Amino acid sequence: MSSPDQAGECLISRADLARGIDRIALQMSNDLASSTRPPLLVGVLKGSTLFLADLMRSMHLEVDIDFISISAYSPSGSSSGVVRIVKDLEVDIAGRDVVIVEDIVDTGLTLNYLRRSLAERGPRSLRAVTLLDKVARRIVPVDVEYSAFEIADVFVLGYGLDFQGLYRNVPEILAVKDIAKLANDPMLLVRSLFVEAGA
Ligand code: IMP
Repeated sequence: MSSPDQAGECLISRADLARGIDRIALQMSNDLASSTRPPLLVGVLKGSTLFLADLMRSMHLEVDIDFISISAYSPSGSSSGVVRIVKDLEVDIAGRDVVIVEDIVDTGLTLNYLRRSLAERGPRSLRAVTLLDKVARRIVPVDVEYSAFEIADVFVLGYGLDFQGLYRNVPEILAVKDIAKLANDPMLLVRSLFVEAGA
């Protein structure tokens, strides 16, 4: 059976994730310290959930959270950039200091859409934070005020990021070595990560 070393490898360890998140949490806390109301962290479902949970715990000020979910665009490459909101925010963001919390910025289409959509609602300020930034894959330029880790053009999973709905609860970021092999057998890494580890 495959081991994680054959099909995927650790790209960012738990300890490095914690260090990177603490670093941007401090920057964000300083930048948002003058907010008149608690800043609103907007988690983009579902990939940002673990990151958001750790980020807000590392921040040194009171924060509020809400979630938004948007439809996936075609990952075929020639993406149209057409995305739509499938679960909207529950709170009114007018006058609020808002930070969009993304798991990863890849082509930039999703964040670009979200920034434009939320900006129209009149927030006091609008920023974006991402755990991972695949700068080399960008199709549209988009502002990302805080980025914990810049990574190469490689498919990653774990710590909230999925492949076909799997692997979100892997506690570290793994780089997939052979995406075609995983596509052919989506459970490949599940077996090696969880079953063989005796979890
Ligand atoms: P963008 O619109 O191309 O920037 O894509 C952002 C979304 O694509 C993320 O929120 C993820 O859901 C997904 N995505 C992009 N790259 C990866 C990856 O390497 N692993 C898992 N999901 C990814």
